Amino acid sequence: MLPRAKITAMGYYVPSRRLTNADLEKMVDTSDEWIVRRTGIKERRIAEKGVYASDMALIAAKRVLENAGISAQELDLILVATTTPDMFTPSVSCIVQGKIGAANAAAIDINTACTGFVSALTIANQFIKTGYYQKILIIGAETLSLMTDYQDRNTCILFGDGAGAVIVEPSEGDEGVLGTVLGADGEGGKNLTSFAFKDDEEETAKRVSGNKQTLWMDGSEVLKFAVRAMAKATTEAVEKAGLTLDDIDIIIPHQANIRIVEGAAKRLGVDMDRMFINLEKYGNMASASIPIALCEAFGSGRVKKGDTAVLVGFGGGLTWGAAVVRF
Ligand code: UT7
Repeated sequence: MLPRAKITAMGYYVPSRRLTNADLEKMVDTSDEWIVRRTGIKERRIAEKGVYASDMALIAAKRVLENAGISAQELDLILVATTTPDMFTPSVSCIVQGKIGAANAAAIDINTACTGFVSALTIANQFIKTGYYQKILIIGAETLSLMTDYQDRNTCILFGDGAGAVIVEPSEGDEGVLGTVLGADGEGGKNLTSFAFKDDEEETAKRVSGNKQTLWMDGSEVLKFAVRAMAKATTEAVEKAGLTLDDIDIIIPHQANIRIVEGAAKRLGVDMDRMFINLEKYGNMASASIPIALCEAFGSGRVKKGDTAVLVGFGGGLTWGAAVVRF
């Protein structure tokens, strides 16, 4: 049997600065009661001024290397999932590669928004299966605070900053990535946008900030898409793994909104106690949400060796993805 990508270590970083619902009440016309009822989020972490995605990615990278007990020189590839890179070039993965001294590693950034970590894990799994690479560092890192319109109450309540990382290596037994699915709906991409070079008067006018780089979203359209996509991706990935939902110990979903997770759980016929949730503490950290949730699920003993999990995400693009992983 071909080896599969096995997660052999985890590490993460979140900034210490907190943005609470009470803070947001002072910034826009909202309330703690509304935010908790509609999203489940209580607070988020916000990077200090001058701290970018690569800075947080670097800390997560150092932590995961230490946990893995391997040196940076042993890495073959660094994949960074991010939608909020420091700059267009060099990429976040190249910045990290240089700073940790991973002289033998290739470096690639991936932008599938909140699906980023699952996309990167899926790509890493292919490299491991073919035997092309042996040790891959995967990081999801975001400074969504830099993209958020803090005058728009529809979106500013949702997002936070952080970075999560894993090392994957070839499996020896029955652990590792057992099944994956990735998908996209480019037509639906208009429902969640942030602009770089392109000027678009209509899009700019939608933003309360008037800044085309800030994120604009049709929240209810994305919410409906998210519930459908998470349930479908989970079902398909489990089928590809040759398993049924009864074989799944825990689902670690993208942490966007508790109502999305509840909606997906209902569609799947899975109790909420099989869904891992930490969004109340961090909000939506896009590609950093799933790896950080994974770290906390392990750290708290909620997931242990031998367990089988589904990691499932959706986001801008629109994109979605799920991976069945045995630890
Ligand atoms: O990672 C992928 C990215 N995005 C997501 O996953 C987000 C998906 N969407 C959502 O999470 C939800 O759509 C939101 C939390 C953004 C909004 O919740 P909703 O239940 O879809 O509310 P809505 O947009 O339908 O708005 C309902 C009402 C509106 O007032 P009117 O028009 O009914 O008078 C909004 O103006 O709630 C109002 N509203 C707020 N009220 C207080 C919107 N934001 C707020 C707010 N505080 N922060």
